[in-house]
Amino acid sequence: MSIPDRSAVDVQLAAFDADLAAARSSREAQSVRDKYLGRKHSVVAGWMLQIGSASPDEKRQIGRWANELKQEIETRWAAYQAAAAARAPAAGPLDVTLPGRAPRLGHRHPLTRVRERMEAVFTRMGFTLVEGPELEDEWHCFDALNIPSEHPARDMQDTLYLATPVRGESGRPDDRRTMLRTHTSSIQIRYMQNHPPPVRIVASGRVYRRDDLDLTHTPMFTQMEGLAVDERISLADLKGTLVGFARDMFSDRARVRFRPSFFPYTEPSAEVDVSCWQCDGSGCGMCKQSGWLEVGGCGMVHPAVFEAVDYDAERYTGFAFGIGIERVAILRHQVQDIRLFFENDLRFLEQFPY
Ligand code: DAH
Repeated sequence: MSIPDRSAVDVQLAAFDADLAAARSSREAQSVRDKYLGRKHSVVAGWMLQIGSASPDEKRQIGRWANELKQEIETRWAAYQAAAAARAPAAGPLDVTLPGRAPRLGHRHPLTRVRERMEAVFTRMGFTLVEGPELEDEWHCFDALNIPSEHPARDMQDTLYLATPVRGESGRPDDRRTMLRTHTSSIQIRYMQNHPPPVRIVASGRVYRRDDLDLTHTPMFTQMEGLAVDERISLADLKGTLVGFARDMFSDRARVRFRPSFFPYTEPSAEVDVSCWQCDGSGCGMCKQSGWLEVGGCGMVHPAVFEAVDYDAERYTGFAFGIGIERVAILRHQVQDIRLFFENDLRFLEQFPY
């Protein structure tokens, strides 16, 4: 046998690589390694055997190249094993007698549950569920709702406008600014544009405002809008509808109170309070001793709104309301901080498993 040199090392390494690549199992791979590095009958062991009968110069040569080959093969073997370990699932004896692990059951978000319940209450009363786009133009969100162009709600400070103006559907020159809707009232307009009276709809969805986060504000929240239009619809119908809602949603004994207010799209306008179902109106911590809890705004549809959608304002009247869904959820579940609904911390969400 000749004395090994650099090229002999390269030949053996190439052969090792090819053998290893052909190995079909970890056992086969192990025997490839042994073929080159094993104590007996391996390539390296064969080289070392020559040392006994070699001259001092040759001994040094054999030692040097045998070592080189050994180290290189060891490096490649370690890399091969690391790659194989990464590919293989962590194996181990399977104990089929272990008890099973119950899957964790999820449930719908508390806000979803509250919204669905509100939708059920109103659809039972005969309202139809409709939807509208979150991306709106100024005409549907403001102009058609009788909100004048100098109204503070239109300010960049309150409304989130899109950087690129998109031409709106109405073709009117003032509907070019596109924005995230600031309330679901825009859905009233979209619906009336496409449907003649009578109308009985509710619509829920996300709305957006440039509010900073605090206990009671998030830049996105959800509302439920209601609209009824027909001949001879009166304030009594509005109140009856909201009383029905409050009784179904909160308590059989719930009462509803209107506080005079102002919205450009209703006349008269009111804030809606529901009697505190915890103390039944006598005053407690939840209602801050007032006996009442505020849930939204409402009113009789302003004739200017009917004109914007080509409804006959002489013939038809209507009522509208907007209820904050988080507000209802906060009151139902006595949650202190609105932000909890959006942080998706399971420790919070798991407290509402129904
Ligand atoms: N759009 C109002 C808001 O965002 C809520 C509201 C008030 C809706 C009166 C209505 C209404 O339909 O008639 O706070």
